[in-house]
Amino acid sequence: MLRIVVCVSGGGTNLNAIYEAIESHKIEDAKIVRVISNNPGAYALTRAKEHQSESVCVSPKDYLDRGAFNEALLNAIREASPDLIVLAGFLVNIPSGIIREFPNRIINIHPSLIPSFCGKGYYGLKVHEGVLARGVKVTGATVHFVDEGIDTGRIIAQKAVNVEPGDTPEILQKRVMEQAEWIILPQAISDIAKGLIEIGDKDRI
Ligand code: GAR
Repeated sequence: MLRIVVCVSGGGTNLNAIYEAIESHKIEDAKIVRVISNNPGAYALTRAKEHQSESVCVSPKDYLDRGAFNEALLNAIREASPDLIVLAGFLVNIPSGIIREFPNRIINIHPSLIPSFCGKGYYGLKVHEGVLARGVKVTGATVHFVDEGIDTGRIIAQKAVNVEPGDTPEILQKRVMEQAEWIILPQAISDIAKGLIEIGDKDRI
């Protein structure tokens, strides 16, 4: 049974897609053991409760400095003993201590075709604003491992989505979620649960 911790900051539609895939057996042998949010108002926390998952909020506002927040986040992850950590719209830079403790065990969904429209400053709607400002005709989403850079880890899956005339950032965001994110993130987790994609640090096993 793959133990999954999902980290969220907002609406949690990707979290919902993971729940749906588990409940419809598209993902097998996996369980969400904890949902962690940095934002106490995240609707994703409500979704976690609806699905009877344990959930915790670790907000930077409750800690004196970044170091104390990072330590609390690491502890909240550690306590759940995860095999896999999924960043599903988690808008926090993952501290290197967490990456070192869980090498090749953290994956992220990003709403563009990496290496386009990624890195510092590109998150949420800002990605789609960038896409429309540049005028590209194809965008999409990427699932990748998380390393110490921003959106630089090894790519696991990508799916392309067309940009249509008249798109606003909001319309494009919804299309990218529906046609790419909610498909490739559960698929990647399923492949990991089946052992088709290897996770973890082989040297430590
Ligand atoms: C998603 O579009 C996700 O790809 C993006 O935030 C949104 C969260 O939506 N993540 C990033 O931009 C990370 N750089 P959700 O809370 O409804 O899943």
